[in-house]
Amino acid sequence: MSYYERHIFFCLNQRENGENACAQHDAQAGFDHCKSRVKALGLAGKGGVRVNKAGCLDRCAGGPVAVVYPDATWYSYVDASDIDEIVEKHLKHGEVVERLVLPEHVGR
Ligand code: FES
Repeated sequence: MSYYERHIFFCLNQRENGENACAQHDAQAGFDHCKSRVKALGLAGKGGVRVNKAGCLDRCAGGPVAVVYPDATWYSYVDASDIDEIVEKHLKHGEVVERLVLPEHVGR
């Protein structure tokens, strides 16, 4: 059994040269909101959910992006309500939020 049931990584990358990066699309706010919701719902910790920062995940064109493991489900989110849905459906109940899934072809 893995230490965490689910692990979500948020790209918070920013680029000095002004090129497109998740940090320009409120990634920090998404990360902060996810972290606080997971805590508030009592999902955080061993056997539960871990919310982590990540650098570039190389799928910048869909940014801001986050990925949930072990499911390897990639999301592109817009606002706090998207994050709420990911937390409630996927992180809590293991259901993929299809409307937010990043299409397979989206890369850098
Ligand atoms: S900058 Fe976020 S995936 Fe590359």
